[in-house]
Amino acid sequence: MLSKIARENRRNLCEKLANGLIFSAGNNYVRRNSDVDYPFRQDSNFLYLTGIEAPGYAFILIPKTNEYLLFIPKINTHHRVWIGNIPDLAESKKIYGADKIFYFDEYEKQLHLLSKKFDKTFSPQSPEFLSALSELRFVKSKEELKLMKEAARISSKAHLVARKYARPGLFEYQVQAQLEKVMLEEGARLLAYPSIVGTGKNSAVLHYHANSSKLQKGELLLIDAGAEVHGYASDITRTFPVSGQWTTKQKDIYDVVQNAQKKSISSVRSGVKFRDVHKISALTILEGLTSLGLLKGRSDELLERGVDRLFYPHGIGHALGLDVHDVVPLPKNSESHKIKKPGSLLRLDRALVENAVVTVEPGIYFIPALLQDPSKRKKYQDCVQWNKVDKYLNFGGIRIEDDVIVTKAGSDVYTL
Ligand code: GLY
Ligand code: MN
Ligand code: MN
Repeated sequence: MLSKIARENRRNLCEKLANGLIFSAGNNYVRRNSDVDYPFRQDSNFLYLTGIEAPGYAFILIPKTNEYLLFIPKINTHHRVWIGNIPDLAESKKIYGADKIFYFDEYEKQLHLLSKKFDKTFSPQSPEFLSALSELRFVKSKEELKLMKEAARISSKAHLVARKYARPGLFEYQVQAQLEKVMLEEGARLLAYPSIVGTGKNSAVLHYHANSSKLQKGELLLIDAGAEVHGYASDITRTFPVSGQWTTKQKDIYDVVQNAQKKSISSVRSGVKFRDVHKISALTILEGLTSLGLLKGRSDELLERGVDRLFYPHGIGHALGLDVHDVVPLPKNSESHKIKKPGSLLRLDRALVENAVVTVEPGIYFIPALLQDPSKRKKYQDCVQWNKVDKYLNFGGIRIEDDVIVTKAGSDVYTL
């Protein structure tokens, strides 16, 4: 399946970079200490173009003649004894669909010989290569969507098991163990990113990784975790009460976040700017916090003044694919992904297209570092009810995150 996906990807890349020579080496092992390496993860662009999940390979692509040259590691008996065998030249040629096959030690020589024949060469760092790859990877094929749905199926199951298991007295890492056990059992060999399991105040730390606190009755637990299948990520967040019982205060905030997520998801469809999806979520959160008495004023004015960033300091989501924060094509008329609004950052700032995959993940957090900042207190003294906000400083945060395929008419939410 991966080789088939990669063949199509190479064809598309060759169309975009038709007048040059394209080449790349994949990742290699990274040494942790003495004889131990870090867990191997292939470079995502290399994986996209070759379907090879193992270390030590390289390729050269010649668009003009439609040739695919593959370079494989030359392994010795020591390697076979300690690490195991890999497909040999003939097997690799067949498995990976190469036109010509060499050992890796031929890579530099072949590259040198061939580059002389071309005016243009595209290395994996060249802007043309990166731009073409980000355009291509943004839109997923049917086969890619299948792998993404499998990753999501596994993560969804893991979340359900972890939620059932969580109870007061356990440590965050014990819930993490249940989650990751399911992911491994179901066939995911890697996580898409380090699992976030945060209880109480930790749930307001956006990328909390310590996972070392004890779950207490009355607190919330936020789990943000996703499995990876053949390189394809899933990314799910759920927040729930540790004891299974919502307090009114928790449920009120949860309802606002859920409403923001529902409204955002219903606005997703091909052609819609992701920035506008974000705006819907921010406005819904501002309206919700106003009706709970934490803010006062018109939501559009609060948004204009950046009040949303106090409680919702991240974007509505990001592209998802071979990377959890996947590559996105830069908008044609912009130099960066930044929204021109102080302190805000949208990872994906362009119109959505059919078969792009994005996360939709609004949240409300009570983050002391933001909410106890004297300059913010002063700046927003007229519109934030600080005396009420003070009662939430131990609340933590709530985020709900799902993965969504953009369709012509709307979207397909395929998580949980
Ligand atoms: N898990 C990282 C994120 O939600 O963006
Ligand atoms: Mn995410
Ligand atoms: Mn996430």
